[in-house]
Amino acid sequence: MHANLTVVDHPLIAHKLTLMRDKNAPSAVFRQLLREISLLLGYEVLRDLPLTTKSIETPVEAMEAPILKGRKLALVSILRAGNGLLDGMLDLVPGARVGHIGLYRDAKTLQPVEYFLKLPDHMSERAVIAVDPMLATGNSVAFAIKRLKESGAKDIRLMTLLAAPEGIEAVAKSHPDVRIFTAALDSHLNDHGYIVPGLGDAGDRMFGTK
Ligand code: URA
Repeated sequence: MHANLTVVDHPLIAHKLTLMRDKNAPSAVFRQLLREISLLLGYEVLRDLPLTTKSIETPVEAMEAPILKGRKLALVSILRAGNGLLDGMLDLVPGARVGHIGLYRDAKTLQPVEYFLKLPDHMSERAVIAVDPMLATGNSVAFAIKRLKESGAKDIRLMTLLAAPEGIEAVAKSHPDVRIFTAALDSHLNDHGYIVPGLGDAGDRMFGTK
């Protein structure tokens, strides 16, 4: 197990993930479960956010009360499946800034190609959470993290639902400074690059496409 990997171990996450893995789960149920799991994962991903204090007055007396320090978080969705985790994270942190990275895999080179990038300003001063439910080969995630670093981001975490050992290895090798949070570490990738046992294509399952 990598030092920078956290498998978030909670009975509710395990239960909801089982419901998601079931191939008979309808898209609406799949999306709802992904949103619910992202709340539970997000709780762990954001556990060490720095706090400062603010002087407030409760109805009873004045106090120095804790409040998040620094600029708003940046949540960056790796399209398109990242949007499923993003929705739940925005429920948890409604004030977060949001970025999107669109990548596809070139059929010949098998390398990621960027078709869209829109990020919040001041990336170097924000905690940045990249969200992508499936960490398979890790190629596109490693590329996305490289682009985040090029935008100035320094404090980067990766939030994923399912990870394969190959993907963890690839991201840990190219970005050892990035902490990875996942709901489960699965067995391996199959010949088509799907996570086993996995849940299939997360984007297709979220959006009912094939
Ligand atoms: N992407 C998916 O959506 N599913 C996998 O199993 C691997 C990559």
